[in-house]
Amino acid sequence: MKLQIDDDLGGFLRSLHKLVIRRLIRQYEPYHPISIDGKLVSSGERGCSDRWAVISDVVSKTPGTVLDLGCAEGYYVQRVAREFGCFVLGVDADVRRMTVAQNVNLLNRNEPAGFMYAHITPEFLGKLPTFDTVIFLSVLHHVMYEHGVDYARDFLRRIRERTAKSLIFDMGQSNEVAMEWAPLLPDMGANPHDWIAEFIRSCGFSEVIKAGETDSYKSSVRRAVFVAHP
Ligand SMILES: C[S@@+](CC[C@H](N)C(=O)[O-])C[C@H]1O[C@@H](n2cnc3c(N)ncnc32)[C@H](O)[C@@H]1O
Repeated sequence: MKLQIDDDLGGFLRSLHKLVIRRLIRQYEPYHPISIDGKLVSSGERGCSDRWAVISDVVSKTPGTVLDLGCAEGYYVQRVAREFGCFVLGVDADVRRMTVAQNVNLLNRNEPAGFMYAHITPEFLGKLPTFDTVIFLSVLHHVMYEHGVDYARDFLRRIRERTAKSLIFDMGQSNEVAMEWAPLLPDMGANPHDWIAEFIRSCGFSEVIKAGETDSYKSSVRRAVFVAHP
């Protein structure tokens, strides 16, 4: 007997599905660009192209499993799956962003990308399997100003334990003075990129390479994008 897989909702329900998701996307400011059926629905509030250049370079050289921690609407998760066919998982605790990510990925019939709703904590990281490439972008400064530098170091050490080949990393910097969180970070001195590279090394990564620079969130300060090896 042939297994029946229901691979389409049917015309009317599919249109309704798209309508509901587009309505949700209009109700907040998505972080990432979002496309459905090849059409741009939202351009997103953060540029993704600089960081995509680093991600695609790493994944093309070492294809394998990919994990994106704090994946927002899943721009990188979906693109890694589409362009490289990697098994890729995105994790985020924002219900709106996860609803958009899951549904847009489904509407675009994009295999093999998946999303998990979860709060990333040291305990959660301890339960994860190992991934070849871990993407951890623009999240750690929030952890650092909320819980302190030692907690953030423990966090990144646990991520290293789950990274088989490469970590792709950036974070907010103390010189992003327009941001209300900047004074809550440790003073990274005159060269925050060096401070962050040293911080990554202190989490046990043996090789830390500044692979590029990227825009920061709503400011002209440049963030460094690092590729680190465990
Ligand atoms: C500033 S956005 C960065 C999004 C994406 N990584 C990027 O750089 O394009 C931070 C994202 O991480 C998520 N996030 C922050 N802390 C988290 C945590 N502890 N657990 C799960 N998600 C978290 C937020 O919901 C948000 O979607």
